Amino acid sequence: MVATTSTGRDGWSSRSAFILAAIGSAVGLGNLVRFPAEAGANGGGAFVLFYILCIVLIGLPVLLSETLIGRHGQAAAPESYRKVAEESGASKSWELVATLGVLSAFLVLSFYCVLGGWVLYYMYLFVADLIATGVSGPAFDGMSFEAVDALFPAMIANGPVTVVLNLIFLAITLFFVARGVSGGIEKVAVYLMPLFFVLLVGITIYSLIGGASQETFDYLFTFEPEKLTGEVMLAAVGQAFFSLSLGVAGMVTYGAYVSREVNLAGTSAIIGAADTSVALVAGLCIFPIVIAAGLTPNGGLGLMFQTLPHAFQEIPFGSLIGLAFFIMVGFAALTSSVALMEVPSAWVIDQFRLPRPAAVLLVTALAAVFGTLSALSTGMLSGFHPLGFLPMFEGLGFLDTLDTLTSKLTMPIGALFTAVFIGWIADKRLVDSENGLSGGLHYLWRFLVRWFCPLALLLILLGGIFPDRAAQLFAALGGGEVQSAEVAE
Ligand code: PHE
Repeated sequence: MVATTSTGRDGWSSRSAFILAAIGSAVGLGNLVRFPAEAGANGGGAFVLFYILCIVLIGLPVLLSETLIGRHGQAAAPESYRKVAEESGASKSWELVATLGVLSAFLVLSFYCVLGGWVLYYMYLFVADLIATGVSGPAFDGMSFEAVDALFPAMIANGPVTVVLNLIFLAITLFFVARGVSGGIEKVAVYLMPLFFVLLVGITIYSLIGGASQETFDYLFTFEPEKLTGEVMLAAVGQAFFSLSLGVAGMVTYGAYVSREVNLAGTSAIIGAADTSVALVAGLCIFPIVIAAGLTPNGGLGLMFQTLPHAFQEIPFGSLIGLAFFIMVGFAALTSSVALMEVPSAWVIDQFRLPRPAAVLLVTALAAVFGTLSALSTGMLSGFHPLGFLPMFEGLGFLDTLDTLTSKLTMPIGALFTAVFIGWIADKRLVDSENGLSGGLHYLWRFLVRWFCPLALLLILLGGIFPDRAAQLFAALGGGEVQSAEVAE
């Protein structure tokens, strides 16, 4: 049976279904790959503390703003912005903020599924290894350090493999999105998210008991103020809202399927808390194994695809834990790719009045074209730098160009305008009737959306566009030493 919202559209069947789906959207490669990689590259504790501050002060207010617009509009993202704008006597052009979000979601989808394909490849590697070496042994028994190291570059350079895996990951995503909100998107979250949590907690307990838990706690939670440089701060802000899926109209789209009775402030807090906890637990899961194996918890994609497999070489049950680990990452990636595909699909359904399966197929076909270029950009097309004439994109291949374009430009722009829209433009009574806040929290939220979020987001944007200037400025203000915060995702 299809659940419906108060307007009679297909929607979440319950409040908890919405919460699980929104957590599923938020928790993904951003938490499991990007967060530990960024924490590793940015000196641990200082980054982690600042990241938590960003979630609370910028992430949560914008998250509430997005779900609020969606729930009020009960439509695809641009139409929801338009409705709120019209009812507030503002220009319809505000819908362009959401149109940009839809475009960003599409672009993120196209490269996210390439990374999803890499995760599928590692699942295959560990299944093959499990069959070859048995359940109790370490992973890749008998293989040299160098041979395990070489698996990752060999995979990403292999065009046919990455292209096909990307198509498979897209097809799995399509399968669920085509079935609709209550019949597909919700199902994937309701079944996979609990399994994801069981795997995460199980592997983390194993890791903390058998690994270097004390060193990990010291590494992640010791706050050394001198490490808090400008670049570290910018990396933390960017990570916070990539992780919460903000700025791509994703939470607006999911918010549109929420019924009127749900308290949005409360649910936003739960979603934010769950997403942050998963990022922190991912750190507690990965670093003890890595440090105990005598490896350096460095940043970049190598942490997940090279350092961790080395660590699995050192531990009993290594192939089994490795497989469980990559299945867990795959689940998290799928609930996020489903959210990313739903944003443009909902728009195509509303805009062109197409039936859902046709709309989803169209989005998938286009994503496959872009995805193929991304998949080949780490091999055959590595010399193709589409926006290389701009300093920000110099030397970047197709995949990295899309990643930088979205996370450093279009997503912060989307979040910035959303905060301005809700803080300054939208009718105050309309906003107050939707947000579910009362008392002091209400004033705090209003202050954050009106002043703090727009200013902070403007800073992130400028920092992303002029990284050297921003780092110098922060260093001058805080006296901190400028350090490199390169993360290859
Ligand atoms: N938040 C997801 C992650 O951390 C990525 C994502 C971004 C998903 C935007 C949906 C929308 O992996």
